Amino acid sequence: MAMLRLTPLVPGSNVPTIELNPGSAQTVGRGQRADVIVNDASLSRLHARVAVDQDGQVSVDDLGSTNGVFVNGTEQLSAYLMLGDSVRFGRVEYLVSQGGESESAAEADVPVVSHTVMRRMALSEAPKVDGLVLQALLATSREMMAFDDLPVLLERVLDRLSSILKPDRAAILLVDPDTGAIVPRAVRPSGAYSSVSEFASSTVVRQAMESQDAFIVHDVRSDSRFQEAASVLLAGVRSVICVPLLGRHGPIGALYADKVGLEQFAPDLAEYASAFAGHAAAALETAQLYDDRERHFRATLQAFAKAIDARDSYTAGHSERVTAYTLVLARQSGQYATEFETIRRAGLLHDIGKVGVPDAVLLKPGRLDVEERKVIEAHVTIGYDMLVSLPFLGASLPAVRGHHERWDGKGYPDCLAGTDIHPHARLMAVADSYDAMTSARPYRDAMPAEEAARRVRADSGAQFDPSVVALFDAVEEEFAALHQSPDAPAVRAELLRPVD
Ligand SMILES: [Fe+2]
Repeated sequence: MAMLRLTPLVPGSNVPTIELNPGSAQTVGRGQRADVIVNDASLSRLHARVAVDQDGQVSVDDLGSTNGVFVNGTEQLSAYLMLGDSVRFGRVEYLVSQGGESESAAEADVPVVSHTVMRRMALSEAPKVDGLVLQALLATSREMMAFDDLPVLLERVLDRLSSILKPDRAAILLVDPDTGAIVPRAVRPSGAYSSVSEFASSTVVRQAMESQDAFIVHDVRSDSRFQEAASVLLAGVRSVICVPLLGRHGPIGALYADKVGLEQFAPDLAEYASAFAGHAAAALETAQLYDDRERHFRATLQAFAKAIDARDSYTAGHSERVTAYTLVLARQSGQYATEFETIRRAGLLHDIGKVGVPDAVLLKPGRLDVEERKVIEAHVTIGYDMLVSLPFLGASLPAVRGHHERWDGKGYPDCLAGTDIHPHARLMAVADSYDAMTSARPYRDAMPAEEAARRVRADSGAQFDPSVVALFDAVEEEFAALHQSPDAPAVRAELLRPVD
């Protein structure tokens, strides 16, 4: 009667079950001389030998195979096995289990493989540090510091973590600063989970964060800390690594990875995960601060736009209206779906340089002379210089600088013509002029919408890009409504909502 059985993980006619009695041994291989013939190209002719001694201890030895013997994912030249272990010959994987007859009363006194068996290391030496893993870690550390986009960074960190640990499931969990809840911000498999409890034991995560130390379990089943964590056991989790992400003022979250099924994490990899978490935490905290800073900046941006307009009562609401008109044109074109936020920022800030124009010129009740005109025209370059060092505004700058360029090349500040002018600036030129014309000035009344529209059309190909004037034709009524309908402020507010 067999007392121990190696059952193929993926059954097939070419992969026979291996059965062993105490005191017996079987060779496994692809060739005819092997006791158990596994007809798979990844096996050597005589690949390995599996033996059970009289005490019930099971061992496996590599007989010089090409593709190696792996016990729970780690290559071994010689190792003891225990129930539940996975043994892989080349690509063919077996699960060590008790034979069907072994539980009979007649054999109950035969000792089954003990869980206290110490695993022998490979004969050559302890597992070597994988050079590729170290390289990946180094590359990621360098690369991470260059990211300022939190969602992109989260995905990248998780990709790297996955390439090092090769987990079945992994997640980056971050503490929500508002609620204190631990929220999965990136998960593998991608998009599969939205709450911690769906895949991890929150006890494990909390414990790692509170102890500020890595929580590593090589085998959940023999770890007393998991006796309560039924959810983890039920999910078939075998091995867990949870490493806290430590920010400057305490834990900001955790990296979580587990293996379901047979394989365990190699112990040295857990060390790498801890080292990796240190780099990741620094980068994530920086990106998170950056994210917060950007959110605050958005609010400041809107307030700033209002402040610019408030300086000149005649142009109150100008920046918001120009933004709304420009977005309507952009939407109508169907070409800028991913650039709305860039356009929105450019619109709100397009006249920010007017803070550098003296009141005497900006608020002069009457027409400007040549010198005064030069002073006010400088607002586009003043604005550009004010914003140029802010990286998240980079894409908005061409419209800030270029909204007074003309299609015929007679505009300012760079006298660009035609398609040399940035598309956003060409859209904004029409929006800006339309709003200037339909707003009152100290020296003239507001122009009726129809007359402003007529002048826009008349300037097609001179001041304005003809293709933008064509867009304007299609949305003229929407412009007029945004300008003067009773619900215009609400419609504009909706258009101006930040795009995430
Ligand atoms: Fe302007």
